[in-house]
Amino acid sequence: MKMSSTRDIPVTSGVPRHVAIIMDGNGRWASQRLLPRTAGHAKGVQAVRRAVETCGRLGVDYLTLFAFSSENWRRPADEVSLLMRLFVQALEREVTKLQEQGVRLRVIGDLSAFEPRLQDLISQAQASTVHNDKLNLTVAANYGGRWDILQATRNMLAKDPTLAQNPAAIDEQSLEAHLSMSWAPEPDLFIRTGGEQRVSNFLIWQLAYTELFFTDCYWPDFGEKELKAAFEWYSSRERRFGRTSAQVHTTAGR
Ligand code: IPE
Ligand code: IPE
Ligand code: MG
Repeated sequence: MKMSSTRDIPVTSGVPRHVAIIMDGNGRWASQRLLPRTAGHAKGVQAVRRAVETCGRLGVDYLTLFAFSSENWRRPADEVSLLMRLFVQALEREVTKLQEQGVRLRVIGDLSAFEPRLQDLISQAQASTVHNDKLNLTVAANYGGRWDILQATRNMLAKDPTLAQNPAAIDEQSLEAHLSMSWAPEPDLFIRTGGEQRVSNFLIWQLAYTELFFTDCYWPDFGEKELKAAFEWYSSRERRFGRTSAQVHTTAGR
C-alpha cells in the first residue's frame, strides 16, 4: 500500500513548529469604527509586525502569512492598489528589523502579476535575509493553493517528461518537491482570524493534517495574548493522523 506523506507523526509540543495564518477581518475592523477599509489594512500591518516578533520570541520556526490571495484581485481597484502600496512600504521599511530579529523572508505565489518594482523589492528582501535562521517568515501573495498544485504539476512534468508516459511513477513526494513550500514542514497550526471558518484556497495540499483554529478576533486586534491562546488550544490537541488514541500513546504505534 502506498503510504501518505503524512505517515510521520511530528513531535507535538506547546509551541507549533510551523504556524500558518489567514489574516482576515481588516475591512470589518475598520467598518466597525466608521473608517475606510484601507485603514484596517494599515492597522493590519502592525499586527503582522507583532506576530513576527512574538513567533520569533516563542520559538516558532516557520510562520506563513496569507497576505493577498489569487482571488483578491476581484476587489475594487483602489483597495488592491492600497494593498500593493502597503506591501511595497513594508518591504522598504521592515527589512532592517527582520535582519535584527534573524528572520528569513520568502514570498510565495505567482509574483509575475506584480509590478516590476515590487518584484525587485521582493528579490532584494529575500536575498538580504537569506542567511537568517531564527524564524522562516513566508508571505503568500497572489497565492492560491490550486495554483500551487498546478504549477508543481507543470514543473514536475517539465523536469521529467517521461513521467507523462508513466503516471504510476508519480507519488506524493515527487509532486511535493515542486510545491512552493517544499523546503518547509507542513503547518502544525492554522489560524484564521475574522470569524470565517474556511480555508479560502490557502495551502490546500499542505493543510491536510493541520490543526485548524478559528477566532472571531479581527486581524488588527490579534496580538500576543490571542496567539498564546491559539498555542494553548493547539497543545491540547491529540494529533492522531488516522491512528487510535492508544496507538499515539505508545511508541509502537508510530
Ligand atoms: C484580510 O482582511 C486582508 C486581505 C484579504 C488582504 P479583509 O480585507 O478580507 O477584511 P474583511 O474580511 O473584509 O473584514
Ligand atoms: C483570505 O481572505 C485571503 C487573505 C487573508 C489574504 P479573504 O477575506 O479574501 O477570504 P474570503 O474570500 O472572504 O474567503
Ligand atoms: Mg476577508
